[in-house]
Amino acid sequence: MNEFITRLRNNRKSPWIRDLLAENQLHASDFILPVFIISGENKEEKINNLPSVSRFSIDLAIKQAKLAYELGIKALMLFPVTPQNLKSDDGKEALNRDNLINQAIRAIKSEVPDIGVISDVALDPYTIHGHDGVLDNQNYVDNDKTVKILIEQALIQAESGSDVLAPSDMMDGRIYAIRKSLEQNNYKKASIMSYSAKYASNFYGPFRDAVGSKQNIKSSDKRNYQMDFRNSQEAMREIIQDEKEGADMVIIKPGIFYLDIIKEASQKTNLPIFSYQVSGEYSMLKLAAKEGILDYESALLESLYSLKRAGSRGIITYGAIEAVKILKNNS
Ligand code: PBG
Repeated sequence: MNEFITRLRNNRKSPWIRDLLAENQLHASDFILPVFIISGENKEEKINNLPSVSRFSIDLAIKQAKLAYELGIKALMLFPVTPQNLKSDDGKEALNRDNLINQAIRAIKSEVPDIGVISDVALDPYTIHGHDGVLDNQNYVDNDKTVKILIEQALIQAESGSDVLAPSDMMDGRIYAIRKSLEQNNYKKASIMSYSAKYASNFYGPFRDAVGSKQNIKSSDKRNYQMDFRNSQEAMREIIQDEKEGADMVIIKPGIFYLDIIKEASQKTNLPIFSYQVSGEYSMLKLAAKEGILDYESALLESLYSLKRAGSRGIITYGAIEAVKILKNNS
């Protein structure tokens, strides 16, 4: 007989003790809800390959914002779906003060002022080629030219009332450049949530369908700016660099396949870390559930708890509203 007897199951013997000892919790305030914006009025479009997610015209996006706010969700992340005829090589529609995202920021901030609005800074919704920046004459995304445009784009979004600018382009030096221009132009309160470690992932497909950039990306290849998924040390360099450049928060993306990155980052930075459960990850759960392979509600929560457990302060997920409702029903 072993001298020391440890009964690990004692701590799991009934619901009260499991709840008492649970190391991680999920609340509505952990989630950021992505919202796709289309032009027009009273329009809702279903998205291919992204079950239960729609694109909304601004008036209906306001309704989504109200619903999210009432459920206790603290922030939205806005993505515009730019009409094809407004796309160009240089993505100049990004700098239009009255483009969809700027209109949406103004409308949501005026109708639902207490929900945080996070806006995407990158050129892919606006370029014909679908890349996040502008190309040089060798079709290589030109870092420094792109950063100049991103500075303007960020400034205009801040002017429209965006609370948090989220550069998702993976250009070098853009966090410092954006921070500096916000300071100089007196938008000192605008926060920067940097997509610091964004991988060149296979799991963005449904998102590219949603914003209509799929047909624009010829090679579907962003590997000379998004990160190589064989690497983790490189992610730490990106995060530490963005911290030095003045980021207020960082994003790791995708989420579920990158728990090791979240964990390591949470030990190496004191910045709040957000993980992005991306479109492909979300759709996998939905489609598996539809096939009867798993139970959607508990599988969704498990995936979200894993992101929290790994060290995420919060989670960007298409399932934000669903998750809050499930948590409410379970309590
Ligand atoms: C592009 C951007 C992408 C996503 C968010 N911003 C796709 C890409 O890099 O092509 C993907 C999000 C998702 O898949 O849910 N700036």
